[in-house]
Amino acid sequence: MTLAMLHPVRLGAIELKNRILMAPMTRARAPSRVPTPSMAEYYRQRAGAGLIITEATQISQQGTGTLATPGIHTAEQIAGWRAVTEAVHGAGGRIICQIWHCGRVSHTVFQKDGEAPVAPSAVRGSIRTFTTEGFVPTSQPRALGLDEIPGVVDDFRQAARNALDAGFDGVQIHGANGYLIDQFLRDGVNQRSDAYGGSVENRCRFLLEVTDAVVGEVGAERTSVRLSPFSTTWDCHDSQPAPLYQHAIAQLDQRGLAFLEIVESVYESSVSGSAPQRQDGFGTDDVRSAYRGPLVLNGGYDRDRSEAVLAAGGAAAVSIARPYMFTPDLVERFAVGAPLNPPGEDAAVYGGGDAGYIDFPAMQG
Ligand SMILES: Cc1cc2nc3c(=O)[nH]c(=O)nc-3n(C[C@H](O)[C@H](O)[C@H](O)COP(=O)(O)O)c2cc1C
Repeated sequence: MTLAMLHPVRLGAIELKNRILMAPMTRARAPSRVPTPSMAEYYRQRAGAGLIITEATQISQQGTGTLATPGIHTAEQIAGWRAVTEAVHGAGGRIICQIWHCGRVSHTVFQKDGEAPVAPSAVRGSIRTFTTEGFVPTSQPRALGLDEIPGVVDDFRQAARNALDAGFDGVQIHGANGYLIDQFLRDGVNQRSDAYGGSVENRCRFLLEVTDAVVGEVGAERTSVRLSPFSTTWDCHDSQPAPLYQHAIAQLDQRGLAFLEIVESVYESSVSGSAPQRQDGFGTDDVRSAYRGPLVLNGGYDRDRSEAVLAAGGAAAVSIARPYMFTPDLVERFAVGAPLNPPGEDAAVYGGGDAGYIDFPAMQG
């Protein structure tokens, strides 16, 4: 019997040859913020995934928050990404770009003229980021002015346009893991008293405006959103996540997106402080009943768990991050039940050269 994970699936306008996605993973190998030939090779090696979601990619200089992450807001970056999408398409894969604004998870050294990073409110958080000086406390952010918000929404729209121009099959809006959109969602960071703060409806407004702008530019069938309702990252908390995410998901359901990706569980990271978040009786089944479109689940999926949820019809696809770091031909190995490569060195996860990045072997024969 063929494995359910190997069945093709259509997510919006994107035809996938199987139901295993490579989840987004920052690898910090673009020191000049422009995608490199090594990145094209890295993603080409992983083209056996049904769909690759790239590492988080900043939409603007203002959205930049850490070292060596790529952007998609200059002509040079678009050209660099074009080499990546051509390599993946040439190897029979599909790839979308995760578009990202770090908000307060940033430092003045990354900002124009050393300005303060922006956030929904001037709430700093007990967090650090990587600069050339090491892993240092983030800078005090300033609250975005009401008149500035349309410009940030437009930066997301333009980044989505740039992604399609670079040959991507679509985009994913990074609404997860404590970055700007998540900062607007959660009342631990969003303390605004205008139309973007206070009620659940108001805190979801920025996410939905960004989604509508991106959908207007590239079409719902090429737009995905990632949310992390069951975890907290970068000290970005909410007092009542259940009603917040119920509203966000119900609203996204009306947009007819290519897919919604839900981070179900996180590994506990000493870098970002990721941890599970209080549940309030709200779980994946509630997401399933609130969201009728294609759902992609992420977090701790190995071969058996992936097959179980897909065979049971519990998701359209699953996405897998960490094993993809050291096993480029993950789906090919799942197909035959072959063991994965042993994990690489922790030191090669973020930054560095090709070692621990593009030197993991595929199966022999
Ligand atoms: C090295 C590393 C970098 C990551 N970078 C991103 C990122 O850029 N964007 C994102 O949404 N999630 C990122 N994540 C989270 C993963 O996409 C995923 O949610 C998490 O690792 C759980 O999935 P897994 O158990 O399959 O690894 C990253 C995870 C790791 C390990």
